[in-house]
Amino acid sequence: MDRKTHWEDVYRTTAAEEFGWHQTQQTLSLNLIQSTGVRKTGSLIDVGGGDSTLVDHLLDQDFDHITVLDISASALERAKARLGDRADLVSWIEADITDFRSSKTYDVWHDRAAFHFLTEAEDREKYCETMNRAVSAQGHAITATFAYEAPPTCSGLPVVRYSPEFLALAIGSNFELVESFEELHQTPGGNKQPFIYCRFTRRKP
Ligand SMILES: C[S@@+](CC[C@H](N)C(=O)[O-])C[C@H]1O[C@@H](n2cnc3c(N)ncnc32)[C@H](O)[C@@H]1O
Repeated sequence: MDRKTHWEDVYRTTAAEEFGWHQTQQTLSLNLIQSTGVRKTGSLIDVGGGDSTLVDHLLDQDFDHITVLDISASALERAKARLGDRADLVSWIEADITDFRSSKTYDVWHDRAAFHFLTEAEDREKYCETMNRAVSAQGHAITATFAYEAPPTCSGLPVVRYSPEFLALAIGSNFELVESFEELHQTPGGNKQPFIYCRFTRRKP
């Protein structure tokens, strides 16, 4: 099964509260976004945002330019339905991030639990090329992945598990690791999933 089919099936058949990665509060993500110092007029993209409520909280904080990208149309439809009229305030992009060519730049690139599914070096290279083109000159990237101690799979798919240093190597030398945090995420089923959250800034040329 290709990855798009996998994710469409997941979002067609499973309630948000049943997802292992489900969060009601994206505390670390929101704290790290605040730490970037991005203005309310800045542009943010949530890569692999799925039907996460991060976008709801960003709208609550009056960010003007929010984009949510996901490979799954079903995920985006669910997020739009939840937001109702507020969905019109958001740009929605259905795309595989490894094929995505951005027509604009973003001040904050956020990705929780999408990059870690890229187990092939070629896909990671394509992701990083896109990120290099899409993050603005003074921009930031916030990436959260499974930590080394996390399970080897997520949503039934194999993942790459990272330390902050290993993730910095994977993201490449155009970005500098500023800070990192660990989170012991508790799944709705009661299991523990250790995550790392890293904040990067774009290096000056
Ligand atoms: C584990 S979920 C995390 C969702 C959300 N970021 C969160 O924290 O709740 C991974 C998400 O990444 C999306 N995804 C997986 N591979 C992708 C790809 N190659 N391009 C874009 N989105 C992808 C999936 O559809 C799914 O919504």
